[in-house]
Amino acid sequence: MTDPKHFQQRVFTWFDDHGRKDLPWQQGLSPYRVWVSEIMLQQTQVKTVIPYFETFMQVFPTVEALAAASEDQVLHLWTGLGYYARARNLLRCAQVIVDEHGGKFPDSIEALEQLPGIGRSTAGAIRSIAFGKPAAILDGNVKRVLARHAAIPGWPGQTAVHRELWEIAGALSPKQRPAQYTQAMMDLGATVCLRSKPLCEICPLQTDCKAHLQGTQADYPGRKPRKTLPVRTTTMLIISNASSEIFLAKRPPTGIWGGLWSFPELDQANQATDFCLDTFGAQPARIEPGSALRHTFSHYHLDIQPLYLKLDQTGGNIMDGDGQLWYNLSSPERIGMAAPVSKLLKSIDK
Ligand code: ADE
Ligand code: SF4
Repeated sequence: MTDPKHFQQRVFTWFDDHGRKDLPWQQGLSPYRVWVSEIMLQQTQVKTVIPYFETFMQVFPTVEALAAASEDQVLHLWTGLGYYARARNLLRCAQVIVDEHGGKFPDSIEALEQLPGIGRSTAGAIRSIAFGKPAAILDGNVKRVLARHAAIPGWPGQTAVHRELWEIAGALSPKQRPAQYTQAMMDLGATVCLRSKPLCEICPLQTDCKAHLQGTQADYPGRKPRKTLPVRTTTMLIISNASSEIFLAKRPPTGIWGGLWSFPELDQANQATDFCLDTFGAQPARIEPGSALRHTFSHYHLDIQPLYLKLDQTGGNIMDGDGQLWYNLSSPERIGMAAPVSKLLKSIDK
């Protein structure tokens, strides 16, 4: 584990040279201004927030003014910032502050966390920035810095990973200059330890950052594990004629593989004879199952059961209309095909 003093020292030196010190909520510092800014800054960038913050402070200069507002008034000022539950919680929180706390924000993490819209990290930011008292924070930006610096594997949405990151955040946060430390860590995450292509060359933590030293920055924080995907099944009819051409049909323009050429598909393998009678006016001379293959889409696995059918006739005059063709394996047409279709075609003996 990194020595906290050494870690903090580098963070402070970096903050003194590069940190943001002229943000509107850093002027005329008050718990009310810090709170409003922290709520606006959840999931929203500083440069987007600034004009909203300034207008908001003109219209609602105090927590009492905000508590007396209607939800419509607050939502109107929030228009364009997104995540509107934040605005509704902001109003509810102002009412609780006025009704139950005499208009004064509490300064303990426990009390702050009880308020609508304030989670543990926002509570830490308010306590440290507005009250100058020691508190750990762990917003999205800080999670990225700490997960990379200590090379903590796993997705922070998992309890164990989340707990480990909070432990590190707590162990590293200083008793002195808590406000600057909080702002520095947020700024470092937002401006240096970028999600993709972090600027490690100018980072004060590079000398002992594990991810930087290993070149594995992109692995941290770990991503949400994929849910297990549902499995769907289909039977694909690979029908050859007496000239060893393969029957293909063009898929409808929308849906999966829209507009690509594919084999006819059935839900049930035992409908294959009927399909041939309907389509070609003839029964297949031979039916033989092939080995199944899996194709994976983003939302499901498709398990494909190929069924090889042999027709005795040549197919030339059977088809009418576009959207159906006999595919010649020796002189293949240049057409768009779904990946598993082209894979299956390639596996057929000429
Ligand atoms: N994101 C959340 N809080 C912030 C702050 N105080 N400064 C910059 N970005 C932030
Ligand atoms: Fe992030 Fe690179 Fe700094 Fe490590 S060295 S904390 S990866 S910017």
